[in-house]
Amino acid sequence: MYYDYYAGGAEDQYTLKENVEAFHRINILPRVLVDVGKIDISTSILGYRTSAPLMIAPTGMHKLAHPEGEVATARAAAACDTIMAVSFSSSCPLEEVASSCNAIRFFQLYVYKRRDISALLVQRAERSGFKAVILTADTPRLGRREADIKNKMIAPPLRNFDGLISTDVVTDKGSNLAAYASATFDASFCWKDITWLKSITNLPILIKGVLTPEDAIKALEVGVSGIIVSNHGARQLDYSPATISVLEEVVEAVQGKIPVLLDGGVRRGTDIFKALALGAQAVMIGRPVLFGLAANGEYGVKRVINMLKEELELSMALAGTCTVKDITRGHVRTQHDRPLC
Ligand code: FNR
Repeated sequence: MYYDYYAGGAEDQYTLKENVEAFHRINILPRVLVDVGKIDISTSILGYRTSAPLMIAPTGMHKLAHPEGEVATARAAAACDTIMAVSFSSSCPLEEVASSCNAIRFFQLYVYKRRDISALLVQRAERSGFKAVILTADTPRLGRREADIKNKMIAPPLRNFDGLISTDVVTDKGSNLAAYASATFDASFCWKDITWLKSITNLPILIKGVLTPEDAIKALEVGVSGIIVSNHGARQLDYSPATISVLEEVVEAVQGKIPVLLDGGVRRGTDIFKALALGAQAVMIGRPVLFGLAANGEYGVKRVINMLKEELELSMALAGTCTVKDITRGHVRTQHDRPLC
């Protein structure tokens, strides 16, 4: 049941497949006879130096994968010099994750109907040293995840909400996840309400879930610090486009004014290379981290991150690029360019 919760997407899971396959339709165009004796894959994200242009995406309830939950994931992030985004639906309290290691952490936010609860969590995150707020904008309600419904998946209690709200929503539909989201998430939250979010925190705000240039421009207008091109790992609106297929349009709309990140379907170092070539500053990794966590806790997550880093380093050497700045639009060919072989 928990595997299905992690692996699954919404409805026909068309977008789930597309997130991965759209990467397959992009070629990398290598340059040969470049001195690639030394490759440096390090970069910075929102001004924080990281060992590679990848970070851990916010995913809920890590204790379903491993008894140490988000603490194990955070320790792996620290060991790999990588940033971790901690989910609003984390199974460990934010303070426990914060005190477990010195990983740079961002806090992912859902806005609840009870604004005071969302505000309290943002303030707790800020007090315990989180460096940014990621507002997830694609989840006014939960997508229809049929595996969870069939499995009658019930969310375990979430420790961040102890004493604040009951996560114990009863439903006759089998799974309580969607009912819980509908009962708690504020579906009326919209662009004008970003002013409220700015008023309760000094942290930089990133908007996660942007898939169109129109929304990218709105994000610029409301003055956020970054955009994450994401379809929530294909768990929300099925038939939304693969993230890599819309990245370039969003990057063009943003015109370098704020950083653009991407997640969804990143499974290989070559995928990271392609996202950077199309204008992303970095990518976020969701399911591979969860699978590493389930397989072997902190060490499993480290292994996943290191595999991706090793693959990226090798792809950069083979493509004739020594640093992430050397990766340009000219290093990839998409379907919009010339017909692919
Ligand atoms: C997610 N995602 C997610 N996003 C978010 O903003 N808050 C959350 O609590 C969660 N929870 C969550 C649980 C699980 C099991 C998955 C797989 C995903 C979405 C996540 O941040 C990210 O957008 C995707 O996981 C990226 O796609 P890949 O790497 O899983 O293909």
